[in-house]
Amino acid sequence: MAGGDKVDYVFKVVLIGDSAVGKSQILARFARNEFSLDSKATIGVEFQTRTLLIDHKSVKAQIWDTAGQERYRAVTSAYYRGALGALLVYDITKRQSFDHIPRWLEELRGHADKNIVIMLVGNKSDLEDERAVSTEDAKEFAEKENVFFLETSALQATNVENAFQTVLSEIF
Ligand code: GTP
Ligand code: MG
Repeated sequence: MAGGDKVDYVFKVVLIGDSAVGKSQILARFARNEFSLDSKATIGVEFQTRTLLIDHKSVKAQIWDTAGQERYRAVTSAYYRGALGALLVYDITKRQSFDHIPRWLEELRGHADKNIVIMLVGNKSDLEDERAVSTEDAKEFAEKENVFFLETSALQATNVENAFQTVLSEIF
């Protein structure tokens, strides 16, 4: 980064949601501008960082990713500890992944800081023909729960930057 590598803030953001909704690919897109169609299920916890400028300050985003599958998940309390933001991800083509969102939100609210910034993310917006969750339903849920909402495509790089930027700016 120009001007050296001084970091003013480190913000931890966690990704949660059912298996195969695209959490790891959203992270790959944000951290490295990469995408893979044959992404393997995550086992345990991984994290990646990207440093960006927000209001002329250098902010290191430390994004944590864990398995959606219960048996591969990390220790819940450690995963949420210190998190200032969360992306709560479902797949717009999988109704069940949206129906599980209230459970994920409950777990999040039970373990994370009460001021955590939450963004509901409907991923795979490139698969419009297979849509199973309407934008309206998700928007309504997000308003009721007082969380941000965006539809993304990790594949097409739609709104991924926007989702993280919104959460990070709001933390800031
Ligand atoms: P777990 O690690 O098991 O919790 O899954 P995950 O949520 O990390 O899912 P992952 O990122 O591994 O993606 C699952 C599958 O969906 C892979 O085949 C990805 O290539 C695909 N995928 C992810 N994002 C998109 C997207 O935006 N559009 C499309 N069409 N496919 C996507
Ligand atoms: Mg994963």
